[in-house]
Amino acid sequence: MLSQYYKKDFKILGKLENDMRLVYLDNAATTQKPDVVLAAVKRYYTVDNANPHRGVYELAMRATDVHEQARNVIAAFLNAERDEEIIFTRNATEALNLVAYSYGLANLKTDDEIAVAVSEHHSNLVPWQRVSEITGAKVVYLYLDEHGEYTKEELTSKIGSSTKILAMAHVSNVLGIENPVKLATRLVHQNGGIAVIDCAQSVAHMKVDVRDIDADFVAFSGHKIYAPMGIGVLYGKYELLDKMPPFLSGGDMISHVHESGTTYAKPPRKFEAGTCNLGDEAGLVEAIRYVEKIGLDKIREHETELCKKALDGLNSLGGIDIYPAGSDKTRSLISFNIRGVHPHDAATIMDSFGVCVRAGHHCAEPLMERLGIGSCLRASFALYNDMDDVDIFIRSVEQTRKVMGIGS
Ligand code: ALA
Repeated sequence: MLSQYYKKDFKILGKLENDMRLVYLDNAATTQKPDVVLAAVKRYYTVDNANPHRGVYELAMRATDVHEQARNVIAAFLNAERDEEIIFTRNATEALNLVAYSYGLANLKTDDEIAVAVSEHHSNLVPWQRVSEITGAKVVYLYLDEHGEYTKEELTSKIGSSTKILAMAHVSNVLGIENPVKLATRLVHQNGGIAVIDCAQSVAHMKVDVRDIDADFVAFSGHKIYAPMGIGVLYGKYELLDKMPPFLSGGDMISHVHESGTTYAKPPRKFEAGTCNLGDEAGLVEAIRYVEKIGLDKIREHETELCKKALDGLNSLGGIDIYPAGSDKTRSLISFNIRGVHPHDAATIMDSFGVCVRAGHHCAEPLMERLGIGSCLRASFALYNDMDDVDIFIRSVEQTRKVMGIGS
């Protein structure tokens, strides 16, 4: 089993939590970091640290190389056409805000439409609501069917000649189901619009190929793919980036500044104002090498097996509501409720068994409203989880019901 070889790479997983083995199942919130990633960050600060693009001395040139090499590795990872299509941000949220405030404000006008999948994480939904308030463009929500899927009928009925922007996650952070991003992108292109795809929940679990999706913009966070927090990526098609106004402004994003005004650098530097986070870029590069060495196909196969076992276990307990009901399409996470138990109570009790799951609305309140719930539990898997983790997880759910006096 995959995890037997890789668990040892993550020191935190060998530590006890509440005197119990740590069963970390909150990987959709953030993943743990392998030793090689931590070492890469340390190596950058002990060997190569200086401010890139600013110094002519050897050390500064090495730092610039680290920065531009990282761009090159990420471009190849996403199958981007050019390194210049990769912009470093703090996280996926900042990347999506960049698109909303730069592309959105420059291109939307009253009566245009922004098609937003209702299951979006708030980070690919709230910026569009805000841009809609400023521009007068209308947010049109795409709705899921009872299986948690966006049907072709729904997409074709909502994406039309007024649709200027489509906002859709590759994989929902609550439902774990892959959305039809290729079809949705094709439809919005046929209507002259562009597609903004949030890959935060897919990038660590399956190949993300920006050219295959034909996405105009793709965002992800490093910390969900075994890299440090504080580093994120925006991919954008170069011809779009080139025409867009800057988002943040200041140092390193300019061509020339005069009292009378400023001209801007070409992408990607136009969008990277201020000093970048090179230590964490080095960590992200190492994280990408780490998952590529194992193989995303193998990781997906492994996580699918874990999900299947966990789903079977939950279904065999009875009294569990799984979202969406009856779905077997999730590959990396399961959202559910224990009937009669508030998710926060459940997560607290499960923690006493060393099991970490997320409880709440998962930053997807419109989806919660569609599901008719206020909140739920979510168990999400990573390459280092194993079948024992799943067994302990299921036992902790069983124990939670006992503690709450249900089914005893
Ligand atoms: N976006 C992260 C999640 O879904 C925090 O949990």
